Amino acid sequence: MELRVVEIDAGATYALRRRVLRDSWPGSEVAFAEDGAPGALHLGVIDGDDVLVAVASFSPEATPHRPAARAARLRGMAVEPTVQRSGAGRRLLEVGADRLRAAGFELLWANGRDSALGFYRRLGWQVLGDGFRDANGVPHHVVMTEL
Ligand SMILES: CC(C)(COP(=O)(O)OP(=O)(O)OC[C@H]1O[C@@H](n2cnc3c(N)ncnc32)[C@H](O)[C@@H]1OP(=O)(O)O)[C@@H](O)C(=O)NCCC(=O)NCCS
Repeated sequence: MELRVVEIDAGATYALRRRVLRDSWPGSEVAFAEDGAPGALHLGVIDGDDVLVAVASFSPEATPHRPAARAARLRGMAVEPTVQRSGAGRRLLEVGADRLRAAGFELLWANGRDSALGFYRRLGWQVLGDGFRDANGVPHHVVMTEL
């Protein structure tokens, strides 16, 4: 499958965030306060028909796990269900990491859903600390990779 990573604006991420990450909470918010933060970056993957099939957002945010590092946080990582396991998530994080590294960031981290930890581990990320649940009760761990 032909997959191309492009920069998009925050609003273009909302439909996939809602469909993939908020499917069990249809009324809940899909905009994040960090979406418009200085330095925020939104990337998408488009397929051969120019359909947006995956999104991810990055913004500057330190982590208590490495407070001195210049860190960026990943949020809203969502791949269209019919396209999952086709390499779109990997491509997004590779391009995101390249862009962040070039901008001087040292670290990328996220609150990763436990159901996605295998994905982050496969890409060489570390899983840190104790597990926790988000406001919707979904189990998570902090995940992190050096840039
Ligand atoms: C998790 C998610 C972002 C991964 O993206 P993806 O495009 O499906 O993943 P890729 O095809 O790039 O996978 C890269 C590697 O990770 C593996 N992988 C992907 N998802 C996995 C999972 N949930 N568990 C274990 N391994 C996984 C793939 O098999 C692949 O391995 P390979 O290198 O041996 O081929 C995507 O499946 C998704 O949107 N899931 C639902 C929402 C979600 O959980 N988002 C993340 C919230 S933190």
